Amino acid sequence: MFLYNLIKFFLFLLDPEISHRITIFLLRFSLKKNNKEFANLKNIVFGLRFNNPVGIAAGFDKNAEIYKQLFHLGFGFVEVGTVTPKPQSGNQRPRVFRLKKEEAIINSLGFNSEGFDAIKIRLPSKRDIDQIVGVNIGANKESKNFIEDYKKGIENFSNCASYITVNISSPNTPGLRDLQLIENLNDLIKNINEVIEKNNNDSRPPVLLKISPDMEDEDIKSLCSAVLSDGIDGIIISNTTLDRSKLNLNEDISGGLSGVPLFELSTYKLNLVYRLTKGNIPLIGVGGIDSAEKAYEKIRNGATLVQLYTGLVYNGPEMVADIKEGLSDLLERDGFDNISNAVGADVKIK
Ligand SMILES: Cc1cc2nc3c(=O)[nH]c(=O)nc-3n(C[C@H](O)[C@H](O)[C@H](O)COP(=O)(O)O)c2cc1C
Repeated sequence: MFLYNLIKFFLFLLDPEISHRITIFLLRFSLKKNNKEFANLKNIVFGLRFNNPVGIAAGFDKNAEIYKQLFHLGFGFVEVGTVTPKPQSGNQRPRVFRLKKEEAIINSLGFNSEGFDAIKIRLPSKRDIDQIVGVNIGANKESKNFIEDYKKGIENFSNCASYITVNISSPNTPGLRDLQLIENLNDLIKNINEVIEKNNNDSRPPVLLKISPDMEDEDIKSLCSAVLSDGIDGIIISNTTLDRSKLNLNEDISGGLSGVPLFELSTYKLNLVYRLTKGNIPLIGVGGIDSAEKAYEKIRNGATLVQLYTGLVYNGPEMVADIKEGLSDLLERDGFDNISNAVGADVKIK
């Protein structure tokens, strides 16, 4: 912790994007550690064998540069991306802001991506069964047809991704979040299923939707029934929020808010999705996790797996091992033999 605090001191003097580039560079040299795993955290989800439920959320390794090294930190799975079909540079800088007091970040990156071709070369040519690497796909800002971009993403990554996340919840690409609305969502899901059916069935990866915490409850209800009836394998809740009610900012900074102030809202929406899907599909809980207690709260509110990003920036890589150990203890304390038994323990399904 001392070492990370020292590194953090210097990194926090720099612009957040430059710090991130330095972090990616340093992580290239991280060595494989003998990470402690816990029998009660192992679980099979989407037919994949997870050593532990803690994943790194999309956005940290957008271009799949260091996904192998991220496993050295002890993560049970890694999600790379968001990847867009063509390379694009994203929005104008500055576009990442630290809110230190709140342990939060606001970003308006707008899918800066090296594009499908560059990322595909870095990923294994075939799905690796020992390392679970999800690919989060998006659409180009200038695209005339977002759905076509997602179809290309499924075509490109079906063979190598352990799972594919269809990210329709970034607040930084105008119009993208409209795909979450039922009138567009049905069309999107129909198109995704067509591409999957056309591809070889053996290589069909699980397909997940990543949603925004700012969706109205009614829209979430429609989304859940569409997901359940149309063969989407899971839902990630949630992306960043545009809500600022938990902040005390003098000036508004545009972009999506992540970290501690997002925890409550994203956990509430997770609980809602679990209730609406009645525990019938696995959910990934994301938003504001920075401790074992918070990861456990996500699990008890319906998450089978969890992911984090901002917590890592503020607390450093040792947090991953701490969360795993703490989670294992909490399960034992509450009499759960395995993590799967704790999923949704706090949710009342009518
Ligand atoms: C700088 C930054 C960039 C992000 N980029 C992406 C992205 O490309 N795709 C995506 O689906 N989510 C992206 N996210 C959202 C995270 O994956 C996650 O859903 C969100 O930050 C909430 O988790 P957290 O509070 O643990 O950070 C990004 C978040 C941050 C802070």
